[in-house]
Amino acid sequence: MSNGKAQGSIPVTLIPGDGIGAEISDAVVRILEAVGAPFRWEIRMAGLAGIDAHSDPLPSETLDSIRRTRLALKGPLATPVGGGYRSVNVRLREEFKLYANLRPARTLIPGGRFEDIDLVLIRENLEGLYVGFEHYIPIADDPHGAAISSGVNTRAGSRRIAEFAFDYAVRNKRKKVTIVHKANILKALTGIFLETALEVAEKYKGQIECGDRIVDACAMQLVLNPWQFDVIVTTNLFGDILSDEIAGLVGGLGLAPAGNIGETAAIFEAVHGSAPDIAGKGIANPLALLLAAAMMLDHVNRADLSERVRSAIDKVLNEDQVRTPDLGGKAGTRQLTEAIIRRL
Ligand code: NAI
Repeated sequence: MSNGKAQGSIPVTLIPGDGIGAEISDAVVRILEAVGAPFRWEIRMAGLAGIDAHSDPLPSETLDSIRRTRLALKGPLATPVGGGYRSVNVRLREEFKLYANLRPARTLIPGGRFEDIDLVLIRENLEGLYVGFEHYIPIADDPHGAAISSGVNTRAGSRRIAEFAFDYAVRNKRKKVTIVHKANILKALTGIFLETALEVAEKYKGQIECGDRIVDACAMQLVLNPWQFDVIVTTNLFGDILSDEIAGLVGGLGLAPAGNIGETAAIFEAVHGSAPDIAGKGIANPLALLLAAAMMLDHVNRADLSERVRSAIDKVLNEDQVRTPDLGGKAGTRQLTEAIIRRL
């Protein structure tokens, strides 16, 4: 692990994470240092490491660090089974109001099921059916005779995520935003989202094309003809499902990064988990976390550096053919890391 010797000007909280977390964070820090990224790391613990050191998977000193830096790169965190701990990811989302989940998916290795995929899913991260307003109603002698869940979508929350999506489209020279909903059935819950997003779309008329899709039709169209989509914006539950479908179009979670963007902080992470089955073996693929770090470079307006990182990844995978076992290769984490540094 880096000891923070790169004295960049932008402080970032680095949570190495559990399982393969230390190996892949170490690789990413080395690559970022080699490309001259302007980050100064504050290394903090969370997950199992947080429980071991502070009896909390999200210790207060980690939260304090993110409050200060407003920027974090997070390795995978193992969710403890039992123990009554609340999900760290949910706590971080609530604490920093990380309302936008940004999941880009791009074909990195040709020859998969789909070629030339390049789409971005933007998921509302705080509202909808994930607010957790749930309870059971007893029926006869069954205490769980019925289960009830309420979803909440606000006009303000819908506007905020729609504006984020259209602004993102403009900034990233995208052409089209598709609003995904289920307003034909969930007329209030997702109707308000569609209606508000369409109002926002009006402001971008002539600049960004806009369409809308019912979620089930969208799921099918993503498999039949994913190239018709560019940026998709949707509610929490639909976004959760569609973002994994989109990761599947480009070869699964091993190359999938995510950004969680809020009003007071932004947290970048790999989508995959802590991979306990391969932890410590030196064969973990660091590219999802590296792609998340590239998103963080974009976030701090250093697209010049993120492009160098992405281009090096492309050359290493496709010209040098250096790949970790999950991508069908034989290289270890260190070998892949060194190959990328050579290509920067
Ligand atoms: P996982 O994503 O850790 O592993 C699934 C499979 O993919 C395993 O065979 C693993 O070896 C492989 N894999 C994952 N990342 C890889 C990488 N970078 N390089 C090579 N192979 C990789 O999912 P699993 O096993 O369901 O979860 C393990 C732990 O991770 C659990 O405690 C779970 O709660 C946690 N988790 C945490 C997430 C987060 O912090 N964002 C997300 C998903 C799971």
